[in-house]
Amino acid sequence: MKDLRIGLIGCGAIGEKHALRIQNNLQNCHLAAVSDAKQENAARVASVCNTPVIESSAALIASPDIDAIVVTAWDPAHKDLVLDCIAHGKYVFCEKPLATTASACREIINAEVSHGKRLVQVGFMRRFDRGYRLLKQSIEQGVIGNPLMVHCAHRSPSIAPGFSDDYMISQVCIHEIDLIQWLVGDTYESVYLEVPRQSCHAEPALHDPQIAHIRTKTGICIDVELFVNCRFGYDIQCQIVGENGAIRLPDPTYYTIRQNGFRGMPLCTNWEERFADAYHVEMQAWVDSTLAGTTTGSNSWDGYVAAVTADALNESRRTEHRISIDLPPKPSLYP
Ligand code: NAI
Repeated sequence: MKDLRIGLIGCGAIGEKHALRIQNNLQNCHLAAVSDAKQENAARVASVCNTPVIESSAALIASPDIDAIVVTAWDPAHKDLVLDCIAHGKYVFCEKPLATTASACREIINAEVSHGKRLVQVGFMRRFDRGYRLLKQSIEQGVIGNPLMVHCAHRSPSIAPGFSDDYMISQVCIHEIDLIQWLVGDTYESVYLEVPRQSCHAEPALHDPQIAHIRTKTGICIDVELFVNCRFGYDIQCQIVGENGAIRLPDPTYYTIRQNGFRGMPLCTNWEERFADAYHVEMQAWVDSTLAGTTTGSNSWDGYVAAVTADALNESRRTEHRISIDLPPKPSLYP
């Protein structure tokens, strides 16, 4: 099989991880070049991955020696980079979010529809996590009957200074937003954001924790606790309650310790460790589907729905009202 020649744009924190993953862990591909607006970042990743730098992202995308692109630049750069990839007819894996606004996501959808073929995968890696996949399989097999409620928690020990209320949704909750509709096979109808008493560990300007309430078209009620200063660990929970039973996401496998009258298990403390396997599976699936001339995972429409839902949750926090999710008809390009 031909090796997929990948160009990566954005050599920051996750860009370096993905670059190393492509070079060292994935099959049927290699990192053919990297690029970054900051040349020193590109040079660092090029050196650890033993691959060339192409100075401009436009030249990397246009290069006849690059088959497909990974976009790991910062959020505001995603739209133009993805549009450029589509203009060149190249498959692109874009880290989440697809773009920073719903209207920018629409531009990407319009470009893809005009091109006539799906080329974009958005980096929502939880769809490739084994635990979530088992939950989805159980729901589809009717193990718990129709889902009625979904209870989720997305907790991390602490957060960088300056983290904003909107980031709680567009950076944190966005994972659950994309995941849950895929998990339960439904679409969103409305949202409401609730703000509990503020934790003493949160910066004064940050409402932490927050609780996102989402209702689907068939009436499934979802609640997502978002708590980025929980102190105790990176803790991801998901329980689905159905007509005939309840299922919950397994905790990552660790040892259990019995000591001094106590039985316990260590907790994960960061997202990279928690979802390491999911990132691997996600990127290998992207490589395999690209080589087969198809796409997998979250597409541009999913990226758009996530942006619309995130906007509605932020609006709900500001207005203290329930906000409905009104989407235009989905183009037939998207399944
Ligand atoms: P970072 O700030 O560490 O790195 C971003 C890099 O992009 C920097 O090297 C910067 O110089 C470069 N850059 C910015 N604009 C550019 C442009 N126009 N052209 C080329 N390079 C440009 O950010 P980080 O944490 O690596 O995040 C990158 C992206 O990955 C973000 O969109 C973020 O939301 C996403 N992400 C996704 C995660 C997931 O769980 N799926 C986890 C972490 C990040």
